[in-house]
Amino acid sequence: PSAQIRMLLRYVALVQASLFLITSCEVSQNKGTFWHVTDLHLDFYYDETNNDPAQVCPSSFGAETPDAGLFGDYRCDSPWSLVRSAVEEMKRIEPNPNFIIWTGDDTLHTSDEDKFLSEELVIETVHNLTNLLKKSFPNTTVHAALGNHDYHYKSQIPPGPSSILSAIANDWRDWMTDEQFQMFNQTGCFIREIAPKVDLISLNTNVWYTSNKVVTGMADPGGYFAWFEQELEKAKSMSKKVYVIGHVPPGHFELVDYKYWYYPEYNVRYVEIIKQYSDVIIGQFFGHHHTDTFRMFYDDNGNAVSSLLIAPGVTPWMTTLPGADDGANNPGIRLFEFDATTMEITDYVQYYLDLAAANMAGKADWTEEYRATSDLGIPDMSVASWEKLSKRLESANVLEPSSPDTILLQKFVNYNSVLYNLTPCNRSCQLNQVCAIRELDYGKYKDCVSDD
Ligand SMILES: *[C@@H]1O[C@H](CO)[C@@H](O)[C@H](O)[C@H]1NC(C)=O
Ligand SMILES: *[C@@H]1O[C@H](CO)[C@@H](O)[C@H](O)[C@H]1NC(C)=O
Ligand SMILES: *[C@@H]1O[C@H](CO)[C@@H](O)[C@H](O)[C@H]1NC(C)=O
Ligand SMILES: *[C@@H]1O[C@H](CO)[C@@H](O)[C@H](O)[C@H]1NC(C)=O
Ligand SMILES: [Zn+2]
Ligand SMILES: [Zn+2]
Repeated sequence: PSAQIRMLLRYVALVQASLFLITSCEVSQNKGTFWHVTDLHLDFYYDETNNDPAQVCPSSFGAETPDAGLFGDYRCDSPWSLVRSAVEEMKRIEPNPNFIIWTGDDTLHTSDEDKFLSEELVIETVHNLTNLLKKSFPNTTVHAALGNHDYHYKSQIPPGPSSILSAIANDWRDWMTDEQFQMFNQTGCFIREIAPKVDLISLNTNVWYTSNKVVTGMADPGGYFAWFEQELEKAKSMSKKVYVIGHVPPGHFELVDYKYWYYPEYNVRYVEIIKQYSDVIIGQFFGHHHTDTFRMFYDDNGNAVSSLLIAPGVTPWMTTLPGADDGANNPGIRLFEFDATTMEITDYVQYYLDLAAANMAGKADWTEEYRATSDLGIPDMSVASWEKLSKRLESANVLEPSSPDTILLQKFVNYNSVLYNLTPCNRSCQLNQVCAIRELDYGKYKDCVSDD
């Protein structure tokens, strides 16, 4: 009998071993990826051969660009060569992502929209970029969000239908069901299921943007907040999780003192909604800054409950916002990794192009800039980890440049401009970065930055 038991035990062990093998194979197969690309800002007038250095691109607002090269200039928006190179690189690194997130801003910045842009040119620009993505990723659904520059005049996007929105909706129709198309065509928002228990909500946050003068005085332009809440409530009742994508994020810009994006009452409302549904939302992905950063949300007891990730732009364009000091960036594209069963984000890799080097070499060598879990001092992408990172950035003493937290702060700030601006981060730089990350409430942000 003991021989029989031994055999039985061996058999059980064998079954266990093969079950383990099957399970571990399944786990490794369950990794998914998606690209997040944002702020392409195509300047199709860009001409580096123009002999007048002030005329290379209208997006330089008349500033001279003596170093302009094949792939662009830090004072200009993206030439076609840069946009094409970015999308080619996405295809080379990961040609079969589960999907792509594209968070808007396709046209050039210009001080003279009557001369350099029109409704037709906005539509044509979005159309050309849409085609580039469709041709490069024919089998991949793109989840897109509208940017404030995807309109004429810029930022004046009405809540509700418009001729530009209809044209864009037609371009993006291949990526939508009829129902999603109908809604997007009327609102610039949509919701779709991206996994059995996970929805993605694309918000038209441009109606909450302070530069938008057509929404003035509206309590809830287009009813988008009410819709957002209703969809989150529905998801919650069905035990679903939600990804949120949008262009203009809540909170402050970290490169300028006191510069916020949403009208104050809309910022309050957005933050309240995220707080209320923090257990439903498993990712928030935004653009608009062109810089690389994140934002934290807290409950009433000060516990971190959600995070929002802002990906850097493809355009290197130096912001003309008053108070921003040398606010250009290198072009970036971001590949997220997630657990395909739960859709929880597990990591991301940030890729970038050293624009000056690319122009010098006459060829674009995109490289890995950093991997979140290796280079930010956090083991995973949980809210607790982002909170831990923000705490370390906050406690860094800039007068002790060799202490681990200060080294981390400097690294983080270097990533913020995608390795364009490597200036040592002093106390005011630290406060601007950290207060923007940790204080989405405008009043608390103000107290935070003035706490010197
Ligand atoms: C769009 O692409 C067409 C065809 O290549 C080109 O002729 C046109 O200039 C492009 N327009 C813009 C705004 O990029
Ligand atoms: C896209 O899917 C079609 C049909 O399944 C296939 O023939 C084609 O090779 C795919 N293309 C890419 C780039 O994966
Ligand atoms: C999209 O919306 C516009 C404006 O409401 C409408 O005129 C148009 O018919 C809609 N397009 C489609 C294909 O339904
Ligand atoms: C901090 O650095 C910025 C940018 O280099 C500079 O403009 C500012 O004057 C510095 N502030 C202080 C307090 O040193
Ligand atoms: Zn932008
Ligand atoms: Zn924008």
